[in-house]
Order: sequence, then C-alpha cells, then structure tokens
Amino acid sequence: MTEPDSLATTRAAYDAVAANYARDIPGRYHSSPLAHAMIVVFAELVRAGGGGPVADVGCGPGHVTAHLSTLGVSAHGVDVSPEMIVLARAAHPGLRFDVGTMTALTADDATLAGVVANYSIIHTPPERLPETFAEFHRVLAPGGHLLLGFQADDHPTRLGEPFDHSITPAHRYSPDRVAELLLDADLTEVARLVIAPGEDAKRGFPQAYLLARRPTGEQPE
Ligand SMILES: C[S@@+](CC[C@H](N)C(=O)[O-])C[C@H]1O[C@@H](n2cnc3c(N)ncnc32)[C@H](O)[C@@H]1O
Repeated sequence: MTEPDSLATTRAAYDAVAANYARDIPGRYHSSPLAHAMIVVFAELVRAGGGGPVADVGCGPGHVTAHLSTLGVSAHGVDVSPEMIVLARAAHPGLRFDVGTMTALTADDATLAGVVANYSIIHTPPERLPETFAEFHRVLAPGGHLLLGFQADDHPTRLGEPFDHSITPAHRYSPDRVAELLLDADLTEVARLVIAPGEDAKRGFPQAYLLARRPTGEQPE
C-alpha cells in the first residue's frame, strides 16, 4: 500500500526536530499533573483488567511509554519518525520501541490490553481517523482500553480544524465528534477530561483526553 503524503511529511518534520523535542517535552509532561492524569487512570484500568501489552502510538521520545512502565504496565512505543525511535531507545534502553505507523500496527488481532495515542492523532487528517480507529479496535482485546490526548476544538458541529502547529500540519478535534467516530469503530467512551482553554498559555486551546473501551460483548448482569 502506498503511504499518504501526510505521513511522509510528519516523519520528515519530526525527524528534523527530534533532538529538541526530546530535550524539552518530557520534562513538561512530568511537571504537569493534568498532562498525565489520564495516563495514571488508564494504567490503573489496564492493571485492574489483568494487564497485557500496551502500545504507545506516536510515542515520540518515549517518556509516556516509560511512565506507563513505571506504573506497572507492559508498554512499548511505536513512531513513524526513526529519529524519535533512536532517542526513545537511548533514553529508555529497557523498553521496546519500533518504527511504524498507527494505521498498520504489527500487533495481532485482539492482543493488546491498551493503546495510547498522546497528541499523535492530531497529525492524522480527518478523513483518515476512521481507518485509524478501526486499527485500534483490531489490535485491542475485548475489554481493552484506548486513551487519546489531543488539542480540542469546541465548535458545535465540525469534526476539527487545522491549526498552526510549530512542527507539521495538525488538526484539533472536537471531543464529541471524535467520540462518535470511536463509537462507529465499536469503541465506547468510558470517560473524558477536558482542560480549560486558559491553561494553554500558547494558543488558548482546550486539551481533551478521551478514554474508550472495546466492548467485551458480555451482557451486564
Ligand atoms: C506531538 S508528538 C507526541 C509525542 C508523544 N506522544 C508525546 O506525548 O509527547 C506526535 C508524534 O506522533 C508521531 N506520529 C504522527 N503520526 C503518526 C502515525 N500515523 N503513526 C505513528 N506515529 C505518528 C510523530 O512522529 C511524533 O513523534
């Protein structure tokens, strides 16, 4: 299958900034309780469900993968940028990091306890979200959890809009519309956290974390 132009653009852009990103972003993540609040909840749900492998897709330099690991989750990272993967492996030598794309994961069907995409679906064009969510559904085991973090759009009707991301083209997305697309992919919303726009000093965008689950298929008693 030929790769979309957007993926090649994303790869080249993140390869170019990988060293600076790895220097600046992990510290910001660890010093912001709101930025990792839902990661902690996600890890607890994965552990409560009996554990299993978790993919951090669009992992960048691997700080979220490593955080999940310290929280007792068996996490590995996947990123389309080879430079990011080099840096992730160097920073976290005990963890697995693979070059790859979130639309063609190497995991077998229904084998993952969880998938995290922390600020990585923002580089997926709107028309490619359905196939991306179908891939997340494919790899998740029944009862497995998905956590999406992204810049949010609070427009009442649209799915999303492009914004001036400093690295490469990106969209911010409507949490409600993303939740609808997840449901179309048979992924049911469990919870969400929306951080107030005023907390984003740079652009004034809300930040959304959507937690969803692949249904078990079992009827509740
Ligand atoms: C904004 S960074 C987020 C990195 C990290 N998750 C974090 O929280 O800091 C977006 C990352 O997603 C990766 N990415 C974007 N689209 C991707 C795709 N389709 N498949 C795999 N990785 C992708 C980029 O290479 C980049 O490392």
